[in-house]
Amino acid sequence: MKIKNICCIGAGYVGGPTMAVIAQKCPKVKVTVVDINEKRIKQWNDENVENIPIYEPGLSEIVKEARGRNLFFSTEVDKAIDEADMIFISVNTPTKTYGIGKGMAADLKWIELCARQIAEVSKSDKIVVEKSTLPVRTAAALKEILDSTGNGVKYQILSNPEFLAEGTAVDDLKNPDRVLIGGDIETEEGKEAMDALVNIYASWVPREKILTTNVWSSELSKLTANAFLAQRVSSINAISELCEKTGADVNEVAKAVGMDTRVGPKFLNASVGFGGSCFQKDILNLVYIARSFNLKEVADYWEQVIIMNDHQKRRFAANMVRTMYNTVSGKKIAMLGWAFKKDTNDTRESASIYVADYLLNEQAEIIVYDPKVTEEQIYSDLDYLGSRSGDANRQAVTVVNDPMEACEGAHAVAVLTEWDEFKDLDWKMVYDQMLKPAFLFDGRRLLEPSTKREIGFEFYAIGN
Ligand code: UDX
Ligand code: UDX
Ligand code: ADP
Repeated sequence: MKIKNICCIGAGYVGGPTMAVIAQKCPKVKVTVVDINEKRIKQWNDENVENIPIYEPGLSEIVKEARGRNLFFSTEVDKAIDEADMIFISVNTPTKTYGIGKGMAADLKWIELCARQIAEVSKSDKIVVEKSTLPVRTAAALKEILDSTGNGVKYQILSNPEFLAEGTAVDDLKNPDRVLIGGDIETEEGKEAMDALVNIYASWVPREKILTTNVWSSELSKLTANAFLAQRVSSINAISELCEKTGADVNEVAKAVGMDTRVGPKFLNASVGFGGSCFQKDILNLVYIARSFNLKEVADYWEQVIIMNDHQKRRFAANMVRTMYNTVSGKKIAMLGWAFKKDTNDTRESASIYVADYLLNEQAEIIVYDPKVTEEQIYSDLDYLGSRSGDANRQAVTVVNDPMEACEGAHAVAVLTEWDEFKDLDWKMVYDQMLKPAFLFDGRRLLEPSTKREIGFEFYAIGN
């Protein structure tokens, strides 16, 4: 079976870049990305490709090449579903904020709505692909909803988890470590559907990197992969605290440990804590699933990764307060970086939000600079926590467009995102503009310590 028409529901950080790359690599396939958010679709269609809603290196060039040729962005969800032979579901699955499983389970409200809409609209057989990260066995629920209409339309459900990381999405999509496709391997129809999706990816991914498994393995692999990655960060962060007490240096430890090929060197950067839309959500989900099967030890084991991460964010902020003579009340603190990592404008679960909130509770005055995050987003992140009124957030937090301006007259500067430009900042000039003693806190191990101390900074870095 050859796919001619793809529809993707959800034009976010996953759906947008993934479909752009599929459209670029498969010019004969028509790819339509739909979203209920009109503003977002309008941005994707903006004449100036630099205004697309997601910042990812290399993405705007691909959109420029494929948009209008075989890549389309639209709010006409029904029409796109009707025309498609394959439908990707890439809607958000945030952690539930209410009811059973609150704070732990994934909220599948949007997934279910999609399934109902597909069931209502479809007149021909469809392959439905889960792209969003989902709890194990969601495919079964999807199938039930889709089959419930009894109108004779046949569905095949595939799980095709996304492994791209933000900031490197385009590269990850073009050269993936692997592509994982889960499906009904027991039936001919199931195998056919899997082959159809394999063929899409095989346009640019070597066949041996395309894995096919049963649906449950595929769904669980995604949660496990993210749990393992996050676990590495929490593991090195746990060691960073010990380094600060003992005089060991966490970078030296990470290097020595990572050179063991069984461990590997990647993903061992100590930091102020991991953020992003996936790690916390997926681990909480894993924990919730384990608990629901009464697997207490399994649940507790993985939950500790989150506990450690929360501790690291709090510990970083508490150390700032302690270092500045136990009070930051009325002090001006410059925060460099708001995104959860460099090269993205995404701020979901960013450590910066929690550090800012802690410092605001201590009555600090905060000035934020981030090269890609908007003022509106920063206020909305703080408001979302509900720690204080929107007015109070706007009064205590100022957002500026220039790092030097942020640091002017500051008691302390904290580097919270590892943007390259912070490395090359004129740190002598920063120092000259600050109040003395000038405190500099590096939450990313981005800056070289000795030169900063030579300038005169009271310098503190995670794990140093
Ligand atoms: C992650 C997974 O990497 C990706 O495979 C999955 O599809 C989605 O979730 P993402 O959240 O976009 O991707 O970014 P990632 O590079 O994994 O970073 C997550 C967080 O961990 C960031 O806040 C980052 O700064 C932090 N991190 C990462 C560290 O603190 N230290 C490290 O060594 C690596
Ligand atoms: C370990 C370290 O590997 C070595 O670097 C250090 O110097 C001493 O401790 P060792 O205990 O000899 O070496 O064996 P190792 O291969 O690490 O296995 C340790 C245990 O883990 C064994 O019981 C092994 O069966 C088990 N294991 C290892 C697993 O259950 N699964 C694995 O994937 C790997
Ligand atoms: P992710 O990081 O998983 O891509 P995002 O929040 O960036 O998450 O994107 C998910 C997108 O899905 C949002 O733009 C949202 O408006 C869209 N969406 C959610 N539910 C539906 C739906 N039923 N139909 C169409 N789009 C939807």
